Amino acid sequence: MTRQIYVNGAYLAESEAVIPVMDRGFLFGDAIYEVTAMIDGRLIDNDLHLARLERSLAAIDIPMPLPLDGIREVQAELIRRNGMRDGTIYLQVSRGTAERNFLPDAGIAPNFVAFTQPRNLRDTPALRNGIAVALMPDPRWDRRDIKTSMLLGQVLAKQAAHALGFDDVWLHEDGLITEGASSTAFILTAAGAIVTRPNSHATLPGCTRQAVLRLIETRGLRFEERPFTIAEAQNAAEAFLTSASSLVQPVVRIGEQVIGDGHPGPVTRHLQELYLQAAGIRVEPVE
Ligand code: PDD
Repeated sequence: MTRQIYVNGAYLAESEAVIPVMDRGFLFGDAIYEVTAMIDGRLIDNDLHLARLERSLAAIDIPMPLPLDGIREVQAELIRRNGMRDGTIYLQVSRGTAERNFLPDAGIAPNFVAFTQPRNLRDTPALRNGIAVALMPDPRWDRRDIKTSMLLGQVLAKQAAHALGFDDVWLHEDGLITEGASSTAFILTAAGAIVTRPNSHATLPGCTRQAVLRLIETRGLRFEERPFTIAEAQNAAEAFLTSASSLVQPVVRIGEQVIGDGHPGPVTRHLQELYLQAAGIRVEPVE
């Protein structure tokens, strides 16, 4: 079956789904995107992702391409047409199509594309065994809270990490971990506190982060929202990252430093289970 992709009001076979060369997302990275996970046919934290789409678009003054309910309908129709059960749904809204010029024409209409990517998200070796993350200086601009399609910094950091034999990368600035290249970074201190950075312009306000923080609060787990250093991360009892596509992902090595005993720790395991349960996913106990 060929994949059906949504482009500006039409559902098209992938080979027919094209965007004009003069699209400002293509030429300038002048576009916002979102990624929502689907597991067992359920969208995970979709309201949070759509709220962030609205916020990111407003931050760079691009109008919503459709009302929120219209976007939800596009997602549902793509899921239906592509028989999606597990994977991600990608949305991208660019400022629109206009002759190439740094200053955008007033009143151009946004280009809105959306597609599904089938993939097993919940039962992967990375979720079971944890991953190794490299450490690299954060190469990005100063509005990382806006989810733009300008991802070259992250692409190059991930490629460099892979070339060095790591699975992913955590970025740092002024001695502090900012976040993962496409995820939020968390540690568990030796004293038993779960720590993540507060939201600011320095990082993307993760939707999975928000959902996990809600769980931490409702379960009364010890939690500190503050920046943490590279050394603190490397000396942590446990570490993990969160994102729509990795859910709650154990991190078992940071740079050359093995975390704990090199296996996912009990608090990370607990949060993995809580997160799936809260999303309404049936969870089998982990051995
Ligand atoms: N990335 N930080 C960055 C820089 C990200 O790109 C992402 C998500 C996150 C986590 O956000 P959330 O929990 O809302 O997915 C944090 C997506 C998955 C991507 O680019 O594919």
